[in-house]
Amino acid sequence: MRHTLVRLTALLGLSLGSTHAATLVGYAELPADTFAAGPPSGAFGAQGLRGPARFSSQPVQGFSGVRRAPGGGYVFLSDNGFGSKANSADYLLRLYRVNLTAKTAPGGQGRAEVGTSIQLRDPDRKVTWPIVNEASPERLLTGADFDVEGFAFAPDGTLWVGDEFGPFLLHFAADGRLLEAPIPTPNLPGLPTLRNQAPIVIGHRGSSGTRPEHTLESYRVAIETGADFIEPDLVVTKDGVLIARHEPVIAAVDASGKVTEATTDVASHPEFASRLTTKKLDGVDVRGYFAEDFTLAELKTLRAVERLPALRGKAYDGQFEVPTLAEVIALVRDVEARTGRKVGIYPETKHPTYFAAQGLNTSQLLIDTLKKEGFTDPGRVFVQSFETANLRDLKTNIMPRAGVNLPLVQLVSSPDEAPYDWVARGDARKYDALTTDAALRDIATYASGVGPYKRWIIDDGGKTTNFVTRAHAAGLLVHPWTFRNEPPYLLPVYANDPEAEMRQALRAGVDGLFTDFPATGARVVGQYTAAEVRSPQNPAFALVAPAPGQPSAANLGSSGGFEGVSLSPDGKTLYALLEKTVVGDPAGQLRLHAFDLASRKWTLAGRYLLDDPANAIGDLTPVNADESLVIERDNGSGPTAKVKRVYRVSLREKNTDGTLKKTLVADLMNVSDPQGLAPSTRNGVFTFPYVTIENVLVLDANTILVANDNNYPGMGGRGADVKDHTEFLWLRLDAPLTLAPGVGR
Ligand code: G3P
Ligand code: CA
Repeated sequence: MRHTLVRLTALLGLSLGSTHAATLVGYAELPADTFAAGPPSGAFGAQGLRGPARFSSQPVQGFSGVRRAPGGGYVFLSDNGFGSKANSADYLLRLYRVNLTAKTAPGGQGRAEVGTSIQLRDPDRKVTWPIVNEASPERLLTGADFDVEGFAFAPDGTLWVGDEFGPFLLHFAADGRLLEAPIPTPNLPGLPTLRNQAPIVIGHRGSSGTRPEHTLESYRVAIETGADFIEPDLVVTKDGVLIARHEPVIAAVDASGKVTEATTDVASHPEFASRLTTKKLDGVDVRGYFAEDFTLAELKTLRAVERLPALRGKAYDGQFEVPTLAEVIALVRDVEARTGRKVGIYPETKHPTYFAAQGLNTSQLLIDTLKKEGFTDPGRVFVQSFETANLRDLKTNIMPRAGVNLPLVQLVSSPDEAPYDWVARGDARKYDALTTDAALRDIATYASGVGPYKRWIIDDGGKTTNFVTRAHAAGLLVHPWTFRNEPPYLLPVYANDPEAEMRQALRAGVDGLFTDFPATGARVVGQYTAAEVRSPQNPAFALVAPAPGQPSAANLGSSGGFEGVSLSPDGKTLYALLEKTVVGDPAGQLRLHAFDLASRKWTLAGRYLLDDPANAIGDLTPVNADESLVIERDNGSGPTAKVKRVYRVSLREKNTDGTLKKTLVADLMNVSDPQGLAPSTRNGVFTFPYVTIENVLVLDANTILVANDNNYPGMGGRGADVKDHTEFLWLRLDAPLTLAPGVGR
């Protein structure tokens, strides 16, 4: 019964299970084994090793893009050859003119006739790195040089081609001669930082995830692994010197005499046993050894130990001294002298009220030290504090008196805590009182930024809050803390991936990150701030070995470049759609670039949202000024193919997440073929289960042309042992497209 119903609906041109079943109104094939004149090919294996040539000339397919030929018929772009850079060095990149005749009725004959070709080449030596045919005069381009995936003819007759390896845009004359150097893809991440500036990586207590905190070694590693700023927390010695320690307590001891937390080995120095004491620190009794009870000379006899030995081990215990602020500045200066790199310092004066009670003004001491050491560049210092009064005093009195003006950062701890200067004066408010819009505006009267506990940015459930947006509205930078790689510090939503947490914060717009692992921070920030988007096949990586521990500096997946290229109907703007998500972008979102042909300016036209992040796009073609067609497909082939679709994507309308709105116009796995035009059609239903479908073109308002890329000599689309042909489909759409003048002709 169901069988009969299917046949009946198919004959009527209807569809079951979908309102988007386009109708096959024309069909043709090009046999897989179609060759064109040229040198033997297929000699290179997957590792790039040369063997005997498998083919005596050049395979014509697969096809990765289609346009109307200027003189009639169609032009198809050859893909890069045999599937990879390594095995395609003898495949010549060409565009083939193809005359297509559709089979439109049972008994009819569809034909695909390959005509002349345009050979892509670089005789004028525009490519700036060695190509396969480097020394030959014609410098014919091969599939090991570029992976060409989409193209468009400009109004001036020149040819623009999208490449996946760079990814690059390639500009050719109509005869295939490269006209200019490959144009790299700028990185347009669009992070919503306060002033669109790059976020900074702050080495929290140095690189405290890998070295004992607040040691010169910890700071050195932080700088070497990419920190823009290093963070010394500051306390005071008996003789009035600022030293880098997180707390005045350099070893805490419980009532039984057991050390409960320590950053120095002081408890194992019998000569200092008499310094063990109990003090009230911010209202809490603390027993231990206090920095202010030791002279600097005495402290220099101690050695740093790991504060979190159970988590981070003791491998570096006993090796490093307690540094002074002046020594931290000297380290930064030394780096600058040796490398030219200007690392900044982000000091925090610890417990200002506690030290003030002992007659010590740590804010004054800090400014005095910075002045004495000549380190007062406001671009290289942020002064931070968990208290408020000292920051106001710095802004209003101390810095003006000293003739310096350094940016201040108000730290904002968790809502169950309070600035201790408030507590000391009987103010019962907690830190949440610093997070209202009015409070943020008030902070902006004395500080340049806020340093919030990271749960103000991303809540316990892993949801991004509006904190960054509100702080930015008040004109404040936002530098949250503390990002740590270890699983105990990560929400379950990150599945033990610390980079995912950092990416979420960066996408929220933070202007910097405090992290115990600045190497991780620098890697993640670098994915956003890299000047270019590069795939691992980018020639830069063949010329420069990646840094140790970094397999590749690519920020785009392998062959994730420009799969779709189209020209706006007015001929002014080239659209280029990446096939894969740039590292750091939300999963499944693909950048759609706009390249203005006159000004050569790149902009981000929008983000295409895949149905599933595992899918990929296959092609892009214009409909009108505001709409294009996109092929989206899964990686399935034959019986495993599920998603092979053509979407109409709006370049103007957006979803709530900011991605471009799209509408299904053809489900290629459910095409109505009432006449049985295609040999594979069963019961009036045609499916197109090829792994890659890379050609779509608007023929008229109701009809599109679609063709697969057969990945020659690929198999599996029509049977495990059957070579994939290129199949050409003329599809009548359920609803007409609104075409711009010129589109479809
Ligand atoms: O200063 C901000 C950040 O360092 C967090 O505070 O306790 O680690 O000094 P803390
Ligand atoms: Ca700190």
